[in-house]
Amino acid sequence: MADVPKDLLLEIKGLEELFTVDTAKLKDITEHFISELAKGLSVEGGSIPMNPTWCMSMPTGDETGTFLALDMGGTNLRVCEIILTDQKSEFDIIQSKYRMPEELKTGDADELWEYVADCLQQFIESHHGGEDLEKLCLGFTFSYPATQDYIDHGVLQRWTKGFDISGVEGENVVPMFEAAIAKRGVPIKLTALINDTTGTMIASAYTDTKMKIGCIFGTGCNAAYMEDCGSIPKLAHLNLPADMPMAINCEWGAFDNEHKILPRTKYDIVIDKDSPRPGQQAFEKMIAGLYLGEIFRLVLVDLHDNHKVHIFEGQNIDKLRKAYTLDSSFLSLVEEDPFENLSETGDLFQNKLSIVPNRPELELIRRLTELIGTRAARLSACGVAAIAKKKNYESCHVGADGSVFNKYPHFKQRGAQALREILDWAPKKSAKEEDPIEILAAEDGSGVGAALIAALTLKRVQDGNM
Ligand code: GLC
Repeated sequence: MADVPKDLLLEIKGLEELFTVDTAKLKDITEHFISELAKGLSVEGGSIPMNPTWCMSMPTGDETGTFLALDMGGTNLRVCEIILTDQKSEFDIIQSKYRMPEELKTGDADELWEYVADCLQQFIESHHGGEDLEKLCLGFTFSYPATQDYIDHGVLQRWTKGFDISGVEGENVVPMFEAAIAKRGVPIKLTALINDTTGTMIASAYTDTKMKIGCIFGTGCNAAYMEDCGSIPKLAHLNLPADMPMAINCEWGAFDNEHKILPRTKYDIVIDKDSPRPGQQAFEKMIAGLYLGEIFRLVLVDLHDNHKVHIFEGQNIDKLRKAYTLDSSFLSLVEEDPFENLSETGDLFQNKLSIVPNRPELELIRRLTELIGTRAARLSACGVAAIAKKKNYESCHVGADGSVFNKYPHFKQRGAQALREILDWAPKKSAKEEDPIEILAAEDGSGVGAALIAALTLKRVQDGNM
């Protein structure tokens, strides 16, 4: 950074201090996380919902059958047909993606279910048009916090990820979905309502028996793991066998909603305040893909307006003032740009924001993306470490999916490094050596995972177990 003026260097140093989370803090956050996981399972409850999902076994690899899967994530709506074949852990899949129109995310419930039913109808018509179909079993991946009394039931606790559709919170989403399907006569039976994290865990365990935890690092951020019913006090009244497994959808995005431990900056506070659900998803708002670009944008606007060194001096930054104009893929591109020239970064700013940064500003921009991306990865690792410690998993695999995990540069390495620091592992002897806990790219959770959970549910019903 030889040619960066001293004042700007000081600004960069200030940002480094603000966004860096050191090992000691990571360890403190992890310890607090462990106690919050337990609180969520207690009768009194805590911030983290720790939702029992009624997915009660890991797959064996011998599941068979044809299933539909519907994935309503945050950005797309996806419909899949999955054939779990007779060959162990093998499957075939066909799928169609439909973009969720932006206005749907803040519209009303009827529009949402109509749209969902339309997509399913289209899928069935294009793949099974004219056939005399028996009802197909569907696994519906509904990736929002839901209270489930059984597997084909789910009362939406609250919308997350910027959704704000009226008339759904506090309601069981299954009858709403079924009514829209019935209206069109689409031959579908909803067998299981699942969370994307549970699907990710189950799909990953289908091909890798070391998989114990499923995570999503995408538009939102969350994890699921298998608990023993004996360790879930809030289910004690059901007298389930203590050693019976139950997948828990943690909804860890809500960690530290009471602001006791996370190192929030003034930018995180603005994000929360201006979101449709202030006070909710404190952890998620610091690490999930939906928010990374917005944190970056808020810092730049602040540096332009309020700091000693005014960046982008004399330029019109109106486009940068628009909330949520930059998504995490923008940050990914900046992080990938070769540092020598940072020419792609310059082009991005010019094309998208009509701003022409000079070389020192480009260096600040690059450092800022690294700081925001690194903080996200390091904080995420606290959640993984907390589950592993709670369950005494000294060695296991964690299946992870989502755009940030799969596409954000260095996210995996930064997360792995943080896990090493939190869990005090000795340095690896060679690059090939596995860490005791590895976070690996998962199988398709909301497709194959949803199909597997539907298959496991049917089997449980056939076997007469609940
Ligand atoms: C949000 C949702 C959660 C989901 C996660 C990842 O945190 O509340 O249900 O698993 O995003 O999609």
